Amino acid sequence: MSRLPLVEGVLKYIKERNIPFAMPGHKGGRGFLKTVKGKELYKNLIKGDITEVFGLDNLHCPEGIIEESQKLLSEYYGSIKSYFLVNGSTSGNLAMIFSCFNEGDKIIVERNCHRSIFNAIIMRKLKPVYIKNKINSKYDAPFPLDKEHFLYLINKNKDAKGIIVTYPNYYGICFDLPYVIEVARKYDMKVLVDAAHGAHFGASVLLPENPLKIGANMVVMSAHKTLPSLTQTAFLHVGEGIDTSKVDFYVSAFLSTSPSYMLLCSMDYARFYIEEYGENDYEKLIELCQFYKEKINSLGKFYILGPEDLHEMSVNHDEDINKYTMDLTRYILNVPKGYSGHKLLEYLRVNKIQAEMSDSRNVVLIFSPFNSQQDFKFLYKALKNCDMNTLKEEYVEIIDYDIPIPIMYPYEVMGMEKTMVELRKSAGKISAVAIVPYPPGIPIVMPGERLDEHTIDVIEYYMQCNVTVLGINEGKVETVEK
Ligand SMILES: Cc1ncc(COP(=O)(O)O)c(C=O)c1O
Repeated sequence: MSRLPLVEGVLKYIKERNIPFAMPGHKGGRGFLKTVKGKELYKNLIKGDITEVFGLDNLHCPEGIIEESQKLLSEYYGSIKSYFLVNGSTSGNLAMIFSCFNEGDKIIVERNCHRSIFNAIIMRKLKPVYIKNKINSKYDAPFPLDKEHFLYLINKNKDAKGIIVTYPNYYGICFDLPYVIEVARKYDMKVLVDAAHGAHFGASVLLPENPLKIGANMVVMSAHKTLPSLTQTAFLHVGEGIDTSKVDFYVSAFLSTSPSYMLLCSMDYARFYIEEYGENDYEKLIELCQFYKEKINSLGKFYILGPEDLHEMSVNHDEDINKYTMDLTRYILNVPKGYSGHKLLEYLRVNKIQAEMSDSRNVVLIFSPFNSQQDFKFLYKALKNCDMNTLKEEYVEIIDYDIPIPIMYPYEVMGMEKTMVELRKSAGKISAVAIVPYPPGIPIVMPGERLDEHTIDVIEYYMQCNVTVLGINEGKVETVEK
């Protein structure tokens, strides 16, 4: 047994020198070594692990260098006010939701949103109505929200106070945000955007647009996911129509009172980098990504999705219904039916390539301008040499289902007595938990929703296919009674 299991585990990982196609955006520190100031920061980073000593500033009441840096952040992204967060987009989502909504408010939210949003919905006692997410059946990848269902919901719930959406999703796919904002405005609803994966958006015209420029009311971005900033760092931006004194309060409430200047400096640096170098560097990166995408696709073994795969034409073939766009600095590397995305991720890791994540048929790779041509060459070679027989796996079709009927709100379920029931015998009962198959990672049931025969069939289908189903324990589900 090691006396230092964590330290030794991480040191071992570092020694493997894996090629970084995953978060964080600085890619093993390379992002700091790009500029003279960045190099100086890199060399002194650990010494910058200080808090509010004399002469520095206070994140909870900024009046000096933090205030100055946050103003630069706000100017760059085009917000009314911007905040540095040291507890990730997780804290940003909590602060955003608490600042915009009051207890008992109805909101419209994407079914496939991050758990921090679900947690905020419970903690703020909100009444959620869920928008269905699309699943692309050709690639078995979850796509963003379904416009048709969004329109149906908004018409049925005109009393909702706001809409919360993810832009882009984990796969880098964005739905038509200008359209959602235009519709929301008609009904006087706020639009809150979880852009955890989009801190680089807007740096070049080749990237999707910065949601603040489109008119979002509040936006959260994880600086660490794509920019040269340390893990746990994120930005919260305030647009029009928001009471900033409330945001001041909730941001402070959800952040540590001992923020490290190491994290704060890295956020200052990330904004400086994207402002000074973003346009040029992202255009070069996209060129590299496109070049290797074509090379990899021409191997005829894997398929990297492109914008052309996102079109969904209307019945008359004259209109692109959902108008999805994508972040070209990410690969959705798809394997044919009968092969496994998870096995491909493992194969890459054995070959010293760290991808971000996998599902049954896809591996997602996240690039930043600090990935070199050498990195891409390495990836290409590994894929070329991959023996497809080692990736074989029985195909599990991802099936669609209707959202079950909500009986109670998620927050009401929290304090109630729970009973474990055999899934097969749970029809008519109210689920106390979220039931989520991975993949596709979209909840089949949310707390407070009624389990019915059809829903149980869908859950059992996934279990029989050996898909991990969160919320089911030894064939049982936790339920409550109204
Ligand atoms: C869509 C989305 N939102 C929010 C978060 C939380 O971000 P953080 O890790 O910065 O707290 C994540 C994390 O993966 C995410 O994917």
